[in-house]
Amino acid sequence: MFSLVSMSAFSIINMPSQKGKVAIVTGGNAGIGYETVKGLLAKESHVIMASRNPDKANEAKNALLSEIPRSSLEFIQLDLAKKSSIEAFVSEFESKHDRLDLLINNAGIMMPPYGETDFGYERQWGVNYLAHFYLTGLLFPILKKTEEARIVTLSSLAHQNGKIYFDDVNRKDNYDRNEAYRQSKVACLIFAYELNRRLDQNGMSQKSLGAHPGVAITNLLDDGPWYIKALAPFFKWMLHSVEDAAKPTLMAALDPALTGGEYIGPTGKRGMKGEPGKVDSNDLSKDPDVGDRLWKLSEQQIDFKFEVSPT
Ligand SMILES: NC(=O)c1ccc[n+]([C@@H]2O[C@H](COP(=O)([O-])OP(=O)(O)OC[C@H]3O[C@@H](n4cnc5c(N)ncnc54)[C@H](OP(=O)(O)O)[C@@H]3O)[C@@H](O)[C@H]2O)c1
Repeated sequence: MFSLVSMSAFSIINMPSQKGKVAIVTGGNAGIGYETVKGLLAKESHVIMASRNPDKANEAKNALLSEIPRSSLEFIQLDLAKKSSIEAFVSEFESKHDRLDLLINNAGIMMPPYGETDFGYERQWGVNYLAHFYLTGLLFPILKKTEEARIVTLSSLAHQNGKIYFDDVNRKDNYDRNEAYRQSKVACLIFAYELNRRLDQNGMSQKSLGAHPGVAITNLLDDGPWYIKALAPFFKWMLHSVEDAAKPTLMAALDPALTGGEYIGPTGKRGMKGEPGKVDSNDLSKDPDVGDRLWKLSEQQIDFKFEVSPT
């Protein structure tokens, strides 16, 4: 059963400076990703906005640079629905940087009609989860060279009823867009925990954490059924601002008190809004056997061996 575990007063002002550190935020041009980039820039991190659309990214970049002048912000194109784009992103990143302190697996889509990534998976599974598994794996050599690096992966309250259809994640013939979103988001959290277990088992200093934003109105609603977007404004009093929705991610990324393996989300009513803090997640997400099974399935689906070891 979902329950809140602890409350904490988080303030970005109290977080340590990120000067000299390098961060990647997927989907950093909009919504929660945009606010996350803004928070990291405010802490003087060098940030790579990893986004699929150069026009949108440059517009967002200009807006951020006018809000936080002299900040260190770079755009590298990344389309998580294309395997070659993930690989090209990593090559370009590695050609320019020799450290990676923070990887924020934030980009996502919610409840679109059935479609597939170019690597053959249902789009929510592919973009929200499997592409981030692959991206993290390809970036792992540089993450492991960076002491205390963190990987933060975005899940959702929707993970609570999520189930992994291990034998057929696509479910093309029984596609339920809501169920597919829940599946992708519970997978993100299972991955965040499993990665941290593997880092711990190898005695590594890097940490993996999960985060969820609660609920805020963003472009995420654009692909979903029309009624969700139409009704959202009527429930605004139950939700919080996009800026507040980015705080759990920023806390997971920056709070020195966190040791890895935590799930950070809003601690207010039903986890939909409120101060960020440690929160609990469903039993499936925490099951190490499920974590191991998902890891092996993901390696096979993306045809990539993701080895977590210090050497
Ligand atoms: N908003 C909420 O209430 C809520 C609740 C729970 C969890 N979340 C999670 O929070 C994260 C951010 O969502 P948001 O609400 O900020 O949504 P958003 O405003 O729609 O932002 C999503 C970001 O992901 C990017 N993206 C989508 N497909 C991509 C692809 N194929 N390759 C690269 N980037 C891609 C989008 O790029 P474009 O701008 O080009 O579309 C955008 O930058 C998601 O993981 C979502 O599941 C949000």
